[in-house]
Amino acid sequence: MNLNGKKILVTGATSGVGRETAKLAVQYGAVVTITGRDEARGSGVLGELTATQGRHRFIAADVSDPDELRRLIREAGPVDALVNNAGYWELAPTADTSEGGFDGMFAVNVKAPFLLTAAYAPTMAAAGGGAIVNVSTMVASRGMAGKAAYGASKAALESLTRSWAAEYGPMGVRVNAVALGPTLTPASEPMADMLPTLTAAIPLRRAAQPREVAAAIVYLCCDESSYVTGAVVPVDGGRQSVL
Ligand SMILES: NC(=O)c1ccc[n+]([C@@H]2O[C@H](COP(=O)([O-])OP(=O)(O)OC[C@H]3O[C@@H](n4cnc5c(N)ncnc54)[C@H](OP(=O)(O)O)[C@@H]3O)[C@@H](O)[C@H]2O)c1
Repeated sequence: MNLNGKKILVTGATSGVGRETAKLAVQYGAVVTITGRDEARGSGVLGELTATQGRHRFIAADVSDPDELRRLIREAGPVDALVNNAGYWELAPTADTSEGGFDGMFAVNVKAPFLLTAAYAPTMAAAGGGAIVNVSTMVASRGMAGKAAYGASKAALESLTRSWAAEYGPMGVRVNAVALGPTLTPASEPMADMLPTLTAAIPLRRAAQPREVAAAIVYLCCDESSYVTGAVVPVDGGRQSVL
């Protein structure tokens, strides 16, 4: 795979899947802008990247705030690929999910990718093409008690993926998603007690390492996936394919 000189913006890159995606993209030659709210963690990840090459940047931003998003877009400038990875879930029964919790998940998991894509897809098209990768979950297509609002937000993101593939494909912009199974990141640590049950139903019988997810994301950013668009690629150890 080759990303030589390509500019990539990775949201949620201060941790987990985003961090590994940024590191792998740099290994393949990309110039990466990483973002997240936590300045200390952002500087730490930037330090890991600049050890390899010196042209990468960290821009702190809360993607749930449209004003901060607009500033991020201004400061980051044009990119060849966008990874909409920032996201989170609140584990709660529907009746215990607050309105703020619901709105918060939709702001980060749906509205932020929507605003970022609305800003970047036209500039990618004007530059001759580009790639957008959205990070989803198997919970978008499989019911899971306690994750109703989260699953709905990621199902919206998968729907947007298909709509954007139709809208921007004729202009050379490919839009895909990866649908993750359980992945060993800080976000999944509080669910450690559920992991044995979850992984028992996964053909590969284990959770993913974030690096394994990053490899699929980076592939979808590269020209090697030039005929892939509108796809939601399961990166879930086979969970969605079996009973
Ligand atoms: N881990 C799993 O098992 C799993 C499974 C399915 C899907 N996913 C999805 O994979 C993606 C990455 O998750 P992860 O497991 O790597 O989680 P993580 O380690 O908690 O990382 C989440 C990232 O999102 C950023 N983020 C969250 N809210 C933000 C906000 N308001 N503004 C800016 N950045 C924000 C965080 O940055 P700051 O804290 O610095 O703001 C952090 O960098 C998410 O979309 C998640 O839904 C994960």
